[in-house]
Amino acid sequence: MGRVALVTGGTRGIGAAISIALKDAGYTVAANYAGNDEAAAKFKSETGIAVYKWSVADYDACVAGVAQVEADLGPVEVLVNNAGITRDAMFHKMTKENWDAVINTNLSGVFNMTHPVWSGMRDRKFGRVINISSINGQKGQAGQVNYSASKAGDIGFTRALAQEGARAGITVNAICPGYIGTEMVRAIDEEVLKSRILPQIPVGRLGEPEEIARCVVFLAADDAGFITGSTISANGGQFFS
Ligand code: CAA
Repeated sequence: MGRVALVTGGTRGIGAAISIALKDAGYTVAANYAGNDEAAAKFKSETGIAVYKWSVADYDACVAGVAQVEADLGPVEVLVNNAGITRDAMFHKMTKENWDAVINTNLSGVFNMTHPVWSGMRDRKFGRVINISSINGQKGQAGQVNYSASKAGDIGFTRALAQEGARAGITVNAICPGYIGTEMVRAIDEEVLKSRILPQIPVGRLGEPEEIARCVVFLAADDAGFITGSTISANGGQFFS
């Protein structure tokens, strides 16, 4: 049995591609999801990957969920913090609920999931934490003050924790996807996508979830131990940082 990898939001979109790629690379994978039972059941029957339901926004649920995964599969050695949501609105129309929901899931969720696995990784002197941030955390995006702030926060979290984990054999890295062809991006108004977003992508297309998953497999590997605190951009040339 390979190392155990836990992928949050791991049954749909980019997360599903990550779960599958890690399984194909030999990891024992647990895919967490928060709400869509139907998609999770379908994912499980198609891939054979174990699925676990809890919200990353709920710290106690994360502690319990990690304990369950570890009891079933063994210690979590690779954590992929992928779960994320959008509540897009121009700032003057953004509600406190829009703000809280996105920060609680996309930023506090990374704390809530990493904290329960951290001591075990330190004790075992090995760990991989891979945070899925976003191009919009790097460059900012109108209509996404909440999301951009949360994803920029994920990069700061990554850089700080990488320094703490380094001596313990734990790497902490971020991946910043550009616009990937998932439900989240396809939910953008088609006119906005065509007229404002696609023209900004030099490769002229949306990315594929598998193009992010391959970055995760690269960072998760045992021989990626010298790469920590870094940010990999996979955005079709849309933004260089
Ligand atoms: N910069 C500056 N002003 C902008 C702007 C921009 N990029 N986009 C829109 N505006 C302006 C418009 O010109 C308009 O101005 P006026 O009222 O003076 O005409 C005003 O803002 C309102 O624009 P909309 O008509 O689009 O407003 P809306 O309320 O219908 O929609 C929105 C607002 C939902 C934020 C919509 O603009 C939108 O969906 N934008 C795209 C946001 C985006 O890129 N989201 C990414 C989602 S995918 C993702 O997040 C994954 C990832 O990691 C990449």
